[in-house]
Amino acid sequence: MKINENTLLEGQRVLLVPYNAEHVPRYHEWMKSPELQQLTASEPLTLEQEYDMQRSWREDDDKCTFIILDTQKWADPSVNEETCMVGDVNIFLTDSTDPSLAELEIMIAEESYRGKGIGKEVTLMMMCYGVNKLGIKRFQAKIGLDNHTSIAMFKKLHFQEVSVCQVFKEVTLELTVDESVQKTLLEEVQMKERDYRQTCSGRRAQKGQNDTQAS
Ligand SMILES: CC(C)(COP(=O)(O)OP(=O)(O)OC[C@H]1O[C@@H](n2cnc3c(N)ncnc32)[C@H](O)[C@@H]1OP(=O)(O)O)[C@@H](O)C(=O)NCCC(=O)NCCS
Repeated sequence: MKINENTLLEGQRVLLVPYNAEHVPRYHEWMKSPELQQLTASEPLTLEQEYDMQRSWREDDDKCTFIILDTQKWADPSVNEETCMVGDVNIFLTDSTDPSLAELEIMIAEESYRGKGIGKEVTLMMMCYGVNKLGIKRFQAKIGLDNHTSIAMFKKLHFQEVSVCQVFKEVTLELTVDESVQKTLLEEVQMKERDYRQTCSGRRAQKGQNDTQAS
């Protein structure tokens, strides 16, 4: 989707930025992990296929993707963006006849960042973005039956089980965006939207200044 190509969402511990070509090598490294392939039901791709995928995710109208960055690392302009990457989060519009229905996917690829509340924070931020910018009224998450952590996280966020597919060994959880969900998002999500390119050029200028002072 082009809608978020220049959007930076700033949460408490993470930043969400559009998935760009510069993120692909690290993403590709992550997806070599058999554990992540299994947890996210993904097939391994070559680096070239990963670049094609990044381009299609950017162009296709039915998919909105952000890369999750560690805010604290990113605050240091000498650290390159790829080093700050933690995972990714996606919204898929799965039903062309109903653009208010979205499938949510999240991956905290860096193991050391799991179990610290980041998955929950990112999911709420993405839901907030989906509701306010894309007009989403119903979210679904399709999760492997063995992925107890992800199932627990979505249930904690009040998603309800609607079906189990034994063939694909996955459960579908769903949440309808009613008034109480909107209230929760308003109360719990602290998120600022910024211009991504402008913020990056400010960061580069800061690095230039720091380098000049150091020399
Ligand atoms: C699933 C995933 C997104 C959860 O994100 P996270 O940052 O690790 O989870 P959080 O710390 O935000 O915890 C959110 C909730 O998940 C549950 N949870 C977290 N870690 C758990 C664990 N090890 N075991 C069981 N439940 C767990 C808890 O209910 C927790 O809420 P609580 O802390 O209020 O009790 C993350 O672990 C991940 O990306 N794993 C690898 C890829 C994957 O499985 N993606 C999902 C594909 S459907």
